[in-house]
Amino acid sequence: MKILVTGGLGYIGSHTVVALLDQGYEVVIIDDLSNSTVDVLEGITEITNKTPEFHKLDLRDKIAVAKFFDQYPDLKGIIHFAASKAVGESVEKPLLYYENNVGGLIHLLRAMQKRNLSNFIFSSSCTVYGQADELPITESARLKKAESPYGNTKLIGENMIADYAKSEKEFKAISLRYFNPIGAHPSAKIGELPIGTPQNLVPFITQTAIGKRKELSVFGDDYNTPDGTCIRDYIHVMDLAEAHVRALERLLKNEATENYEVFNLGTGTGSSVMEIIQTFEKVTQQNLPYKMADRRAGDVTAAYADIKKANQILGWKAKRSLDKALSSAWEWEKNQPKD
Ligand code: UD1
Repeated sequence: MKILVTGGLGYIGSHTVVALLDQGYEVVIIDDLSNSTVDVLEGITEITNKTPEFHKLDLRDKIAVAKFFDQYPDLKGIIHFAASKAVGESVEKPLLYYENNVGGLIHLLRAMQKRNLSNFIFSSSCTVYGQADELPITESARLKKAESPYGNTKLIGENMIADYAKSEKEFKAISLRYFNPIGAHPSAKIGELPIGTPQNLVPFITQTAIGKRKELSVFGDDYNTPDGTCIRDYIHVMDLAEAHVRALERLLKNEATENYEVFNLGTGTGSSVMEIIQTFEKVTQQNLPYKMADRRAGDVTAAYADIKKANQILGWKAKRSLDKALSSAWEWEKNQPKD
């Protein structure tokens, strides 16, 4: 059963490739290497003893995408991760984000349409909820105007897939709205590889603990939360990876009740920035230098998932603890080059 994983050398993509290979799927990866390296393939091979086929391909290149699909007429499913994901960069280079995330998605769907391919999994984000009116956040919560071009590309992507699914009854798709993925494969052979200064909390923490960064800035301690710092739902990337395999299986086995569905992927538990710092210090026995700083523009106060739908309908639940997620992130960091 051949599955295409776009962005399969990226952070969540590579962990999902491992989960797919573990389940016996055959995997073909396309990736433009804009935010990853071919070395990730070696990590995947070391973990699974299998080497997926890899093609360097930019989804903005419509002709190359069409040619690729001509080579692989027998794809049974597509998991689409390939996209740009830095919020700040998206404000500076909005057209790049629309071109890559929206344009790339159109090229992919067009190529699928031409060959009557179905079974599409889309990487979405809890960013589509903005600051939700109620917590935990259910899939039926009102979607808010995006705070950034990046967030808007996720909203547009979801809407586009939903509209296409309405027009094409044979097409089946699932959007997965991720909360905050963290951690790494337990082997520490694959993990998150931020380019330059990490924007996300956990890679910044691990790089500070190892000495690559002087100290962590906690963005705001005056939020309306018990300790004043923001609350998020941090989920182990391997749990997230396994959810993709489950979602794909749901489509392949024709279990879906509608041809377009949406699921939250989180743990259902919120943790504050201070709780993350304290848990990291506890599980790694490292001292983490940090200081309080101003709020970061665009941050919401609190977001955590209602996981009932994923649990009851998808039949999936996150099973790894926050301790485990943070210690795996630390093991991964210790495996990285020191400069
Ligand atoms: C961010 C993006 C979100 C995107 C996700 C992808 C913003 C506003 N949101 O989510 O759209 O889908 O990444 O991974 O950029 N924090 C610190 N110090 C730091 C870094 C983060 O205190 O150096 C805090 C943040 O204020 C936040 C929490 O840690 O409260 C988590 O931040 P982050 O890891 O960047 O994730 P999100 O902001 O939730």
